[in-house]
Amino acid sequence: MGSLVDISDAKRAARLARAQDEAVARTGRLVTLGEMASTLAHELNQPLAAIASYAAGTRNLLERGEGTEAALTPVVEKLSLQAGRASQIIRRIQDLARKREPKFTRLALDEVIQGTAGFLAADAREHRVRIELALAAAPEVEADRILIEQVLVNLIRNGMEAMAGTRSGDALTLRLTDREGAAVIEIEDRGQGVEADMAAWLYDPFASSKAQGMGMGLNICRSIIELHRGQLTHRPAPGGGTVFEVVLPAAGDDRMAAE
Ligand SMILES: Nc1ncnc2c1ncn2[C@@H]1O[C@H](COP(=O)(O)OP(=O)(O)OP(=O)(O)O)[C@@H](O)[C@H]1O
Ligand SMILES: [Mg+2]
Repeated sequence: MGSLVDISDAKRAARLARAQDEAVARTGRLVTLGEMASTLAHELNQPLAAIASYAAGTRNLLERGEGTEAALTPVVEKLSLQAGRASQIIRRIQDLARKREPKFTRLALDEVIQGTAGFLAADAREHRVRIELALAAAPEVEADRILIEQVLVNLIRNGMEAMAGTRSGDALTLRLTDREGAAVIEIEDRGQGVEADMAAWLYDPFASSKAQGMGMGLNICRSIIELHRGQLTHRPAPGGGTVFEVVLPAAGDDRMAAE
């Protein structure tokens, strides 16, 4: 026991770096910039479509002579919120283009989850989905914040898309727990569940059941999580819908979670 606890920080960091190198070697590569950029471009379409529709709404109000300050102020506020989202996405593309290497830092996942939920609040309203957070104490992880956010955005968006045809106002739950010392994030939706003929292909590139889907979301998510020595899986949710589960080893844990 003593010798386990006694590993110095430097030794532990060296081991972690080695484990990360091995993970990259095993998965072959990190998500390519092209894949990442096309996902982000895909995300960019949403705020841009919203901006176009708020602009059209503003023009309609003005044409009808109803362009009062009271009528226009909330629309203009929404417009600038969406413009802010769009520039945030572009900044993320620039960040990714600048640094090809993932940057691993110690992260508290509750903060990352809260931030991502905030970032997707407008999206959730559009989908008439309530995002519920159930965040328990969990160990910190050694991870690249942007990549983990990318995973959460993809999984949450999939969940919201799966809930499109269901009762409005249903909740999508983001849960954080500690499972035997590992951090576990669950994204639980109330959608129709995974289609039977998709089940075997979900994580393959270009596997999509959606008219507008590129089918890259889950493939990118899985390579990012494997790069972090974690696991991404899914199962049917007890109340209907699907639970996607991300398991990440605690910072400083040298065991390979993927094995
Ligand atoms: N939460 C979910 N509930 C039900 N089915 C899902 C869910 N998440 C993913 N799927 C299924 O897995 C497929 C692949 O998902 P993935 O995110 O990889 O691609 P996509 O959402 O179709 O397109 P995109 O590249 O835009 O993300 C989806 O088309 C859908 O059929
Ligand atoms: Mg998707």
